[in-house]
Amino acid sequence: MNIQQANTAIFFGTDTGNTEEVADKIIQLLNKQGHVINKHNIADADLEEFMTYDLIIFGIPTWDFGGIQEDWEELEDELGLLNLEHTKIAIYGLGDQFGYGDYFIDAVGWLYEKLRPTQAKIIGKWPSEGYEFEESRACIDNNKSEFCGLAIDEDQQFEQSDQRIEKWVLQIVNEFETL
Ligand SMILES: Cc1cc2nc3c(=O)[nH]c(=O)nc-3n(C[C@H](O)[C@H](O)[C@H](O)COP(=O)(O)O)c2cc1C
Repeated sequence: MNIQQANTAIFFGTDTGNTEEVADKIIQLLNKQGHVINKHNIADADLEEFMTYDLIIFGIPTWDFGGIQEDWEELEDELGLLNLEHTKIAIYGLGDQFGYGDYFIDAVGWLYEKLRPTQAKIIGKWPSEGYEFEESRACIDNNKSEFCGLAIDEDQQFEQSDQRIEKWVLQIVNEFETL
């Protein structure tokens, strides 16, 4: 399916606004390609609605030593029960690699694991080259060379964010259409 035909939404949670700012940048870039997408705060999300989308982009920051941003907690039990076999999902996460290098973007890994039973197709995996960290739950199966979603670090590498977001958006559009 062509991206312009896709019913797409972005759901994010945030405590201090960074994850929403990244959501807005992703939306702008997709809009430039003529693609309109729905923006939702996860705090107001209706889980059943997830099944109506062809592509969902989830944005989640990591808080408190590997924890998830608190608005995601409500979904914890139900998320894995959904059937998302016809949905493609891309995840991005906000974190701080120097401040929390043992837990860098752990919440992205949490979300990836939660989505596994839904059979959603996860796109948008991202190389970990260029980041400095010790451990990350977002490196699946102990593969330290790749995160299971885009990592954005507004605390330590904000100057790289725009370029990373632009590249990742092109990647997910391409993967949405071809994988
Ligand atoms: C008290 C505190 C705990 C944090 N814990 C982590 C963490 O465990 N792992 C991580 O990668 N980032 C951690 N961070 C960094 C945040 O994820 C980062 O600042 C992010 O941009 C916040 O996103 P938000 O503004 O959307 O809430 C922490 C920040 C603070 C202030």
